[in-house]
Order: sequence, then structure tokens, then C-alpha cells
Amino acid sequence: MDELRISPEGFQELLEKMTVAMTDAIRFMDTGPTRFIDSLEDGPEAVEAARRLASKLQEEDVPETGRDMADILDLVCNVAARSGKNDSAAGFCAYVPTGGLLQSAAAELLCSCLNRATARFLSNPGLVQLESNVIRWMGKIVGYDPGRSFGSFASGGSMANFIGVLASRRRYLSEEQILEGVVLATSQTHTCIVKGLVMAGIPQSAMRLVPCDAKLRMDATALEASIVKERKAGRKPFLVVASAGTTNTGAVDDLRAVSVVCQRHDVWLHVDAVYGAAFNLTERGRDALDGLEEADSIAIDLHKSFFLPQATGLTMVKERAHLKRAFSVETDLPFLPGMCEDEDNFLELSMQLTRPCYGLRLWFPLQLCGLSKWRQALDERLDWTAEFAHELRQMESLGVRLATEPSLSILTFCYDSPPGQAGKSASLDDSADTASSASKEHIQHMCKLNENLLLFINQRDNIYLSGTTLPDGRFVIRVCILYIRLTKERLMRGLVDIRDGVQELTT
Ligand SMILES: Cc1ncc(COP(=O)(O)O)c(C=O)c1O
Repeated sequence: MDELRISPEGFQELLEKMTVAMTDAIRFMDTGPTRFIDSLEDGPEAVEAARRLASKLQEEDVPETGRDMADILDLVCNVAARSGKNDSAAGFCAYVPTGGLLQSAAAELLCSCLNRATARFLSNPGLVQLESNVIRWMGKIVGYDPGRSFGSFASGGSMANFIGVLASRRRYLSEEQILEGVVLATSQTHTCIVKGLVMAGIPQSAMRLVPCDAKLRMDATALEASIVKERKAGRKPFLVVASAGTTNTGAVDDLRAVSVVCQRHDVWLHVDAVYGAAFNLTERGRDALDGLEEADSIAIDLHKSFFLPQATGLTMVKERAHLKRAFSVETDLPFLPGMCEDEDNFLELSMQLTRPCYGLRLWFPLQLCGLSKWRQALDERLDWTAEFAHELRQMESLGVRLATEPSLSILTFCYDSPPGQAGKSASLDDSADTASSASKEHIQHMCKLNENLLLFINQRDNIYLSGTTLPDGRFVIRVCILYIRLTKERLMRGLVDIRDGVQELTT
């Protein structure tokens, strides 16, 4: 097994050993903890533990000779992978959990094993066609005309957003106009958009923040006013970035209203639907995402709500020509003659030349399970989210309340003074600006209490949650009900932890 050119039988033997280790790792997802001892939020001791582990694994010298496979697998699965937060544990409801669909992991292995280049149609028309199928299906799912739209796979949501930004910049700004360009987004827009701007050669100072409404959605009237103001000042607003599910609270912008403004003023609309796009498969999701199909480009993370393993994103562009223009350059590759112009040549639609068949990661599980399973899983998660919110509302007498209503499958909540006691001190409704110093102290106390509540819940190890700070400065606890290995039973155990935590911390 230590020869580079391994025989088919040798590979089979290797896979059998791998399968045992991987099966154990999969079992551990359902039975293992949501966090390990060196998880970041556990304070300075945890940081020290994390450093100790990392130094134990540090290797100065490249291994000159091979070693036993069992030892290697043990090191990866039982030492290295068992540190920090366990984001493949079934109870993981923090941030936006990634999917880790095992059928897709198997497809990745198959794809690496086949190791066929798919940059050009003529290199491998068969695998290219399978990927093209997936891209056209995704076009249908987001409401695009599959005959006009097309997409490009990327390493995740950040890169998928970057491609949308690049496409807009090459559609609307000549190189001479780059410094005049203005981009409109909100305070809730993911930071990867700013990175994307910079990568597309647009200075960070081009970003303008449009105010949000009370539900943290872009205010479409304010957006229109900003576009008009910037144009009057001689600048070129060329891109609006709306969100179909913000990371913070899951807020979905009013995509219909925003798209009307963009069309009226001839501005590119890019929607960061990295988290939200898959919900378009469900009726409730389609209501929430109404207008998505009007976007010029849409960033999607297949590793979030489509449940794939990490590092699969996709940018869909309404007009294929705009995607092609994003990457067009005036040089030929003399060593790659005979491009079939009418076919799908992915090298013209992305930064990558040598690439695997990314599409197989979704094509394979879709063939095995059928799209209805995704619809079902997403609907189920929407149901659980509604039920979780309902149960939290039942805890109002304890002082628990929703800080933001569920949006798709994300909600935030916090502990606040129970009804009747709110009068003696400030409530979390007082904004940080208007609060008196006594109430500011109270707010700080509440933030600390909620941080401790989060720790309490996570230490119980049924569900693992994260926190966030709302624009008014309040710390709230976030729940993202998405992970494919999450069960309702486990989620509902988390509600007991919340109730116990509040009782323990406030009595
Ligand atoms: C709304 C949103 N946009 C962009 C990103 C970045 O995506 P990725 O982490 O796949 O690069 C995230 C990640 O959580 C996100 O939630």
C-alpha cells in the first residue's frame, strides 16, 4: 500500500480499511459530543488545550517513508478530527451547519478516483453533460429559464458571491469606470461580499449601506433614494446585493421590491442565497423568496441547505452571456485547440482550468434519492423551526422571548426580564442609544446572562448553538435548524436545556 502506483486490489484493501474508519466516524456523528474540550468558547483553558493539541500534531519534517495505515487513520479520525467544535455532530445548530451528505462524499471519492478533467466539453463530454444537467436543474429550482441561464461551480458561498460581483462589474463598469462604481448592500450583508469587491478590483470604499427595516431587511425605498443620490453625485451605482437568508438572523430581503428598484434604475441585482436558495423547493420557501428569479445572479451553497459536504458553491446567472463575459480574456490557449463553441466549456465560465466534475457531488445523490427527499427534509426543518419558536413563546413567563421571529429555519431568542419585572429596569427593547446609564448596565448584565445561558445549553450537549449581536448591540442566541443528521427528538431536548438554563441562571 506504500507504492505510489497502487493496484486495483491494493486500492480495494485500502478502501476496506478506510470504510471501517469512516463508518466509525459516521456513527460518532450521531453519538459523539457537539464540542470537544478545547472548543473555543470555553475560555483561556480551552485555548491552551487547543494549542497543546496542535503542537502535538505539528510535524517539522516531511515523512521520508510510509507508515501503518491504521496509525494514520487513528491520527486523523480519533485525534485531529476530535478537537474544537464538532460541526458534524447531529445536534449542531450553530452558524449555518454544513450538510455532509454521505452519498455526496461517496460521489466525491468516485470523482477523484475517475480523475477526469472536465474543463472543456470535448475533454469529457459525458461528465460535462452530467454537470450541465445539475446546473440547469438548479436554474429551474431558483426560477430561471434553464435555456438562458447558466452557472458556475465554486468552492463555497464566498467564491459564489465573488463570481456574481465580478459578473456585475464586467457587465456595467469599464476598466476606466471602476473607481466611480458604487455597490449597495446592508449591515446584514455577509462580509464575503466586501472581499469579493476587492478581488474584483473595486475598492472597499465603494460600498454603501442601505438602512434596514425592523425585520433587518433592506429598505427598498431607501435603496432607491441612495441610487438616485449616487447618480446625481456623478457616481455609478452598478450593483445591489440583497440577501435571501442572512447569516445573522436568516432575514430575507423583499426580493420583489428590491428587484423592481434595480430594474427601474438598470442596476445589477445579485442575491446572496447561499443559505436560503434551497428553500425555493418548498411552498413556504417560495413565498419567502418571492422575486428571487428576477435577480441577475444568485449565489448558492450546495453545502448548506442542499446538504452537501463542505466546499461546493454555485453561482447561477440569469443570462449565460454575462457569466461568460465575467471571465472573458483576449488571449488564446494555443495548446487547447478546437473548443466546441456551442457546448458547455467550464474553463470559460470560471477561474479554473483543471477541475473535477463538481456536478457529480449533487447529481449522484439526486439519482439515488430523488429531489423529493430534499423538499421533504427542508419542509420538515421549517416545521421544526415553527414548533421550536412556539415552544419558546410558551416560556415567556420565565423571561424567554424571541428576539427575531423565525425566518426560513433560523431564529434568535434571549432571556429578558420576565413580564411584571420589566418596569424596574430596562428591557431589551431599549435601544443602546436611548438607554439611560442604569439601563445600559442592565443591558450589559443581560448580555452576560445570555452568554452564560448559551454556554449552559452547549455544555448539556444536546444541541450546539451560537450567539450573535443584533444591530442595536444586544447579544442573542441563534438557532439554525438545518443539519441533515439533526433529529426532532434531539432538537426538542434542547428546549428542556433552555428552560433549565434560564431557571438555574436566574434563581
Ligand atoms: C449568507 C451567507 N453568505 C455567504 C457565506 C459564506 O459562505 P462560505 O462559508 O461557503 O464561503 C455564508 C456562510 O455562512 C452565509 O451564511
